[in-house]
Amino acid sequence: MDYSKNSITNLAILSLLLATVILLCSWAPLTGQHFFSFKKHPLSEPNSTIAKDELEIALEKASMAGKTVIIAIVNKAYVEPHSDEYPTMFDLFLEGFWVGEETRSLVDHLLLVAMDQTAYDRCKFRRLNCYKVVTGDSDFAGEKLYMSDEFIKMMWRRTLFLLNVLKRGYSFIFTDTDVLWLRNPFPRLSKNEKIDLQISTDRFNGNASPEKNQINTGFYFIRSNDKTISLFEKWYGMRDNSTGLKEQDVLENLVRGGVLKELGLNARILETLYFSGFCTDSENVTAVATVHANCCRSIAAKVADLKAVLRDWKGFKGAANNTSINNFQWSSHVFCRKSWAK
Ligand SMILES: *[C@@H]1O[C@H](CO)[C@@H](O)[C@H](O)[C@H]1NC(C)=O
Ligand SMILES: *[C@@H]1O[C@H](CO)[C@@H](O)[C@H](O)[C@H]1NC(C)=O
Ligand SMILES: *[C@@H]1O[C@H](CO)[C@@H](O)[C@H](O)[C@H]1NC(C)=O
Ligand SMILES: *[C@@H]1O[C@H](CO)[C@@H](O)[C@H](O)[C@H]1NC(C)=O
Repeated sequence: MDYSKNSITNLAILSLLLATVILLCSWAPLTGQHFFSFKKHPLSEPNSTIAKDELEIALEKASMAGKTVIIAIVNKAYVEPHSDEYPTMFDLFLEGFWVGEETRSLVDHLLLVAMDQTAYDRCKFRRLNCYKVVTGDSDFAGEKLYMSDEFIKMMWRRTLFLLNVLKRGYSFIFTDTDVLWLRNPFPRLSKNEKIDLQISTDRFNGNASPEKNQINTGFYFIRSNDKTISLFEKWYGMRDNSTGLKEQDVLENLVRGGVLKELGLNARILETLYFSGFCTDSENVTAVATVHANCCRSIAAKVADLKAVLRDWKGFKGAANNTSINNFQWSSHVFCRKSWAK
């Protein structure tokens, strides 16, 4: 009898002990490292790993297969309306991906690079892939009138950023935000890996050689390799020696001076049939991939004329019959034409 009483007591004590151990185990995460302190492997300590910086994380997140991203630069003037004017350039840019053919999923691979805090906040609010460039002394927040000093400074900052992306091994499509993506452009880009750079033009003269066309840096596809890194280094290296020239002109001068041959770099011009703009409309709406508001001086004019492009496009998509499709015409870009008047 005594014996069995003892064993019951023992059993009770044992159960209590077991319950205590289980409880302590489940509390351990809350009580921190004092109970059951496991020694962490040194690599799992935040300080001992080589931390990925914000840009690396942003690039990885946006990347598609083959370390390729789509990059657009945004600043306050593009994300916030002047007075009560809606939509903004940024709205239109995103609307393009929405109404375009097979373009919606491309937004996952779009990295928006903000030049100021407002642009960054607007971008984050939309749950997009956003990265804020560290600009040091000056934020590039306001509208930069074509060829003003600030405009040129901002352009060089963007060239430096893009050089950095190439150095990290990422190929990319660079797109201005005044380019509407009406179709996925990738099928219209050469998959030939020997072509390092495919770049748009204002006017295509039938020759795909960059030396023989005016290049437009508002849309291009560039592969990351030693040659393209050298090109961007040379280009950026000219920034203090190019008074009064915008970076696009500087690149064009380098190209005409034979820099591509010098670096052994393969480049070709993208036809305006697929990569069009206000300078040259695409002659075939069934084939066009992008529409760039080039040949235009102010944001307000670009917004007005890009709205017309979206109207044209929606009309085309909703066209009831082949007669209306065959008679398709782009609206004329009246606001942009007027934007040059003094
Ligand atoms: C800078 O410009 C000067 C004068 O135009 C020219 O002589 C010089 O070669 C240029 N430097 C570079 C690195 O191109
Ligand atoms: C327009 O492009 C489409 C798609 O590439 C093509 O099928 C069609 O033949 C082209 N039309 C003309 C008139 O070139
Ligand atoms: C236009 O014509 C083609 C063949 O000629 C036909 O397949 C297509 O459905 C027509 N589209 C419309 C919108 O009527
Ligand atoms: C096709 O569309 C055009 C222009 O929208 C219209 O004038 C024409 O009547 C339509 N034709 C048919 C057969 O529906």
